[in-house]
Amino acid sequence: MTAPLIKLNNGIQMPAFGLGTYLSTEFDGYKYTKFCLENGYRHIDTAYFYENEDVVGKAVNDVIASGLLKREDIFVTTKLWNIFHEPELVEKACRKSLENLKLDYIDLYLMHTPIGYKYTENEELLPKDADGNFIFSDVDYLDTWKEMEKLVELGLVKAIGVSNFNSEQITRIMENGSTPVVNQVECNPTLNQKKLIEFCKARDIVIMAYSPMTRPHYYEKDKSLPKPAILDEKVKEIGQKYNKTPGQVVLRYLYQIGTVPIPKSSNETRIVENISIFDFELSDEEMKFMDGFNTGHRTVPFNACKSHKYYMFNIEF
Ligand SMILES: NC(=O)c1ccc[n+]([C@@H]2O[C@H](COP(=O)([O-])OP(=O)(O)OC[C@H]3O[C@@H](n4cnc5c(N)ncnc54)[C@H](OP(=O)(O)O)[C@@H]3O)[C@@H](O)[C@H]2O)c1
Repeated sequence: MTAPLIKLNNGIQMPAFGLGTYLSTEFDGYKYTKFCLENGYRHIDTAYFYENEDVVGKAVNDVIASGLLKREDIFVTTKLWNIFHEPELVEKACRKSLENLKLDYIDLYLMHTPIGYKYTENEELLPKDADGNFIFSDVDYLDTWKEMEKLVELGLVKAIGVSNFNSEQITRIMENGSTPVVNQVECNPTLNQKKLIEFCKARDIVIMAYSPMTRPHYYEKDKSLPKPAILDEKVKEIGQKYNKTPGQVVLRYLYQIGTVPIPKSSNETRIVENISIFDFELSDEEMKFMDGFNTGHRTVPFNACKSHKYYMFNIEF
């Protein structure tokens, strides 16, 4: 199954579903990216920070070389990491990602967070002081954004967006520059982001839903966390009605509330299962039931960044 295309606010089309590739120990980026592209996926989400752009790019290029797909059939999202927020580093960072990916252009380039980290000589991804605290920079994300706008003019990227931005930060960007096409944020039944979705929709910004499964392995390790919807008996029952799994119910819910989910899986059965959500529809009543999982709990709270002036989760949305 392939996902429908949606039009971004700059006219570019993006598949409404993608593969997440955040590098967990078991994840083989090359193998699973290639498998996904061979099985209907047309949208891959990577990041400089994940240190897997090279294998993701190799999979993309090999699938193109095999004749199965053309470059324009595939949508590649990657992200500007926090150490590259200084304006003079933005183009360099983008070119590094292109070099890693071995692609001529990036479809969507996101600012990974509004928070900058100190750029060090050996480009440590997580620069820390002797006490183990992050060493931040106080670069204004607006200055970073201005440089990202130039990447579009240079033809290095087709579209630019943000990730982990709150509504005030988006407003500030829009008052001083162009409108991001996407805000990629955590979004799952436990944190359904209804207010941020509404806010972004009114501005023609698409919410891309990361950690859509609420990282079920976290709950398996710590039962004090809210139980992810995919482990709920009633969600299983809803799925059975449509001959679907709980995972598919969760992803369909996220699609129906207007987001673009990007689940990560390194299991071939689940990879195929996850994208097979475009042939059924949850009823209003089932959607309401799914809304009931929203506790507002964050699986990815960026706690180590709480002291930064641009920490994004201090306000409601
Ligand atoms: N912008 C950001 O700051 C940011 C932050 C976090 C994540 N992301 C992006 O979002 C992507 C997805 O988020 P995530 O990796 O954090 O978490 P996630 O997709 O919510 O969870 C991934 C976990 O769910 C399991 N899973 C996948 N499909 C399943 C299914 N149908 N049934 C049961 N379990 C299933 C996977 O196991 P198996 O592999 O065994 O299937 C894996 O352990 C990332 O990979 C990354 O690309 C972005």
